[in-house]
Amino acid sequence: MNIKTVIKILLIEDEDFDVARVKSTVSVFSNRISVEDVVSNGKAALKLLQRNPDQYDVVILDYQISGGLRGEELIREIKLVDPFIQIIVITKMTINLTDFTFANNLLKAGAYWYCTKYPGNIEEFIYQPTDFVLSIFNAYEKKKLEKQRVKSDKRLMKNIEGILASKKIIGESKPMVHLKEQIEKYAKSDVNILISGNSGTGKELVAWNIHLKSKRKDENFVPINCGSIPHDLIESELFGHEKGSFTGANANKLGLFEVGNNGTVFLDEVSELSTTAQVKLLRVIQEGEIEKVGRVGTLSVNVRILAATNKNLAEEVNAGRFREDLYYRLNVVPVEIPPLSAREGDVMLLFNHFLEYFSEDLDMAKPSVDPKAEEILSNYKWPGNVRELRNVIQRLVLNCKDRITAKDVSDPMILHSNIGPKDMVSFGDNYSGPIMPYKDMEKIFRTNYFKYVRSISVNDSSAAERLGLAPSNFYRMCKELGIK
Ligand SMILES: Nc1ncnc2c1ncn2[C@@H]1O[C@H](COP(=O)(O)OP(=O)(O)OP(=O)(O)O)[C@@H](O)[C@H]1O
Ligand SMILES: [Mg+2]
Repeated sequence: MNIKTVIKILLIEDEDFDVARVKSTVSVFSNRISVEDVVSNGKAALKLLQRNPDQYDVVILDYQISGGLRGEELIREIKLVDPFIQIIVITKMTINLTDFTFANNLLKAGAYWYCTKYPGNIEEFIYQPTDFVLSIFNAYEKKKLEKQRVKSDKRLMKNIEGILASKKIIGESKPMVHLKEQIEKYAKSDVNILISGNSGTGKELVAWNIHLKSKRKDENFVPINCGSIPHDLIESELFGHEKGSFTGANANKLGLFEVGNNGTVFLDEVSELSTTAQVKLLRVIQEGEIEKVGRVGTLSVNVRILAATNKNLAEEVNAGRFREDLYYRLNVVPVEIPPLSAREGDVMLLFNHFLEYFSEDLDMAKPSVDPKAEEILSNYKWPGNVRELRNVIQRLVLNCKDRITAKDVSDPMILHSNIGPKDMVSFGDNYSGPIMPYKDMEKIFRTNYFKYVRSISVNDSSAAERLGLAPSNFYRMCKELGIK
């Protein structure tokens, strides 16, 4: 305790003799304990507390005072006015010394401590002085701790709200509304979830949201990219190792599952786990135990596992590359994230969101966007999903000053689309349409390709230029293909 801190006491006592005894008991510590005010009844005490919030640290309350408001009722009222104030109750010896129910009721009502007065013939002290003074010091420490706890709880809350705001999932399209509902629903339970989706669709973002909305939100969220850790190191990364357990293990190492104890572990690219790591992971899920490399025996952990994959994990199971039992343990609930091209209307929402974000981040004014540029962006397929969109906007904000034009977005450095003939004729591996003469198919391809290039170009001469055609040839070919 800070030496200079003086603990301020409000004494509720109606007998002058006892007031004098309390004062005398704490007098040795007058530099640390100060009886600020004395009142003789409960009502006066409440009035004083209401009028001077945060004026007192500890209330010393005589249990048998006159007036209607006293005892447990008064304790409860005081705590209502100031929940942090600590109350020490003193009672007459006549109260049964071994009546634990009595003591318990006082504590339940909100008192911090209670003691029985010395008999009236001991004039100097109200109670054993060291015990009395110590209980005042401890009461004060408790008040400080409770205040700190509330403060840090608030800070934590603010922190979590801050993280949640920075991890906001943008999207109003039907599949995204459905996804958000799933997150709300599953976050509350403790089940393991398998998140699947193409690259850049937001798997890690979804995992964060599940964690931050779960009861584990105050604990760690530990992301692990199973694909980026070398196979021979993955077990030691996940489960830790003991010093000397293999060459290079110079010190004990905490595994990521230990770091995530009581929190959430996010296993990204889970299909990349080695067979031995899969076995150990199964053990964590089934038994709640980890085996550290080089350690005899196991350690208990409690983690929630969110796993992500952009592969079809069921196919990996069928191909014998992923354990079936582990698959079912991870995939208690599946959450699938749709590709950006399937989220109608979301491209421009995300566009505006990132535009604002990067303009602010780079300390630049938010540029305006030409309608033609918007059209090109909306028509684009976004094979790299939200991650690609985000990168494109970052580049645009860096390159364009106050206006984003069609020319800016159709720059191949911006949308370097990996469109191929497959997208142009919209058939892929699964084409099952009629077989037609090559000439007819070529015409379909040309029509779609020309339409596409036009849609992402500022004007026809730019489209012609990008196709490597003279404008006159381009116009003629468009006419032949029936493109206006
Ligand atoms: N709906 C969304 N709203 C806002 N930001 C998003 C959204 N989806 C993704 N993002 C952002 O896009 C980027 C890519 O998302 P994330 O890393 O979660 O994708 P991923 O599916 O894990 O990608 P990968 O398969 O490449 O690992 C991140 O910066 C993320 O914050
Ligand atoms: Mg990811």
